Amino acid sequence: MKVLGIETSCDETGIALYDSDQGLLADALFSQTEMHAEYGGVVPELASRDHVQRVLPLVQRVLDEAQIASGSIDAIAYTAGPGLIGALMVGSCTAQAMAYTWGVPALGVHHMEGHLLAPMLEDNPPAFPFVALLVSGGHTQLVEVTGIGEYRLLGESLDDAAGEAFDKAAKMMGLDYPGGPRIAALAQHGAAGRFRFPRPMTDRPGLDFSFSGLKTFTLNTVAQHSEGGICDEQTRADIARAFEEAVVDTLVIKCRRALKQTGFKRLVIAGGVSANRKLREGLGAMATKQEGELFYARPEFCTDNGAMIAFAGCQRLLAGEREALGNKPRPRWPMDQLQPLGAQNIDAEKTN
Ligand code: KG4
Ligand code: ZN
Repeated sequence: MKVLGIETSCDETGIALYDSDQGLLADALFSQTEMHAEYGGVVPELASRDHVQRVLPLVQRVLDEAQIASGSIDAIAYTAGPGLIGALMVGSCTAQAMAYTWGVPALGVHHMEGHLLAPMLEDNPPAFPFVALLVSGGHTQLVEVTGIGEYRLLGESLDDAAGEAFDKAAKMMGLDYPGGPRIAALAQHGAAGRFRFPRPMTDRPGLDFSFSGLKTFTLNTVAQHSEGGICDEQTRADIARAFEEAVVDTLVIKCRRALKQTGFKRLVIAGGVSANRKLREGLGAMATKQEGELFYARPEFCTDNGAMIAFAGCQRLLAGEREALGNKPRPRWPMDQLQPLGAQNIDAEKTN
C-alpha cells in the first residue's frame, strides 16, 4: 500500500510517500522557522498561510522524486491534530480534496502517534512493548506502549513541555526560535560546574514533570550575571550548558523510573527534543546500565515531518481503518482517546 503523508500541524509542511512493502519512497519538508524567528515564536495565522503555499508544490516534489504517478497512490494520511487549528485545516482540506478526486481513502492521524512511531522507520525498529518518552514543543509525556493505539499515560508535564522550556529559556538568553537546537549548540562551549540548575520533581515519587521553574531559574541567573542588561558570551554558554544538563538529567531520572515501574527493557524517545545529542547520550547510557535498549529516529524525523504521518497512517489503513469524508481536525486531542489498531473500522459503505 502506497500512502501519501501530509503534516501541517505547526510550522513545518512535511510531505512523504511510504510504501508498506518498500518503505519510505520520498519525503520533503519546508520549515517556516526563519519566518517565525522574527516574532520569537510561531504566529498561527502566518503558519496557515504559508502551508497553503507550500503543500501542493511539495506533494508534486515527492511524487516526482519517487517517480510515482498520482494514480498509484492508495491512500492519504494527514495530521488531524493536535496542533494549530488553521494549520491543521490546510492539511486536512488538501488531503480530503485529493482523496476525493483520486477516489482513495483519507485518514486523520494523531500527531503524537506519528512521533511515537517514527523510530520504526529506522533499520532497527523497536518491538512492543516499550516505554516512550514523547518530548516536543507541546508535549512531555511518558507512555506505556503495548501496541499501536495501546497507550497508557504514566506521567506528563504539569506545566511547560520540555521543548517549550528550551524555547523560553533561549529567548531569555537572546537566542532565536526554535531555542532547543540553539541552546544545545551554545552549551557545547559552556564550562562544566559553573552553574547548577534544579532537577524539578525528581526528589519525590511519580513520573510527572514540571519545567516552568527552570524558566524562572534561567531568568534569575541571566539577570544576576548581566551588566547593563547584557550577559557575556561565555556566561551565556555556561548557563546554556547548566540548563541542558538539568533537563537531560531530569528526563533520565524519570525514564529510569518508568523502566523500573513497567519492567520493560526498551525505551523509545520521540519528538523534537529527542534530536538532542546530550539527551540521547544520557538515556543511552542509562538504558545500557539497566540492560535495556534505547531507540530513536534520525534527527530530521524527530522534529515534525511527513514520513511519520505516512507511516502511522499506513499502519492504521492496513488494519482497515477508514473515516468519513468531512472529518474535522482536532486541535486538542488527548492521546489516550486513540483506539487500538483496527478498532476504528468504519463500514466502507458509509465512507464512500
Ligand atoms: O516535535 P516538534 O518538531 O514540534 C512539536 O510537535 O512541538 O518539536 C519542536 C521542539 C521545539 O521546542 C524545539 O526547540 C525542540 O523541539 N528541539 C530541540 C532540539 N531540536 C528541536 N530541543 C533540544 N535540543 C534539540 N537539538
Ligand atoms: Zn511535533
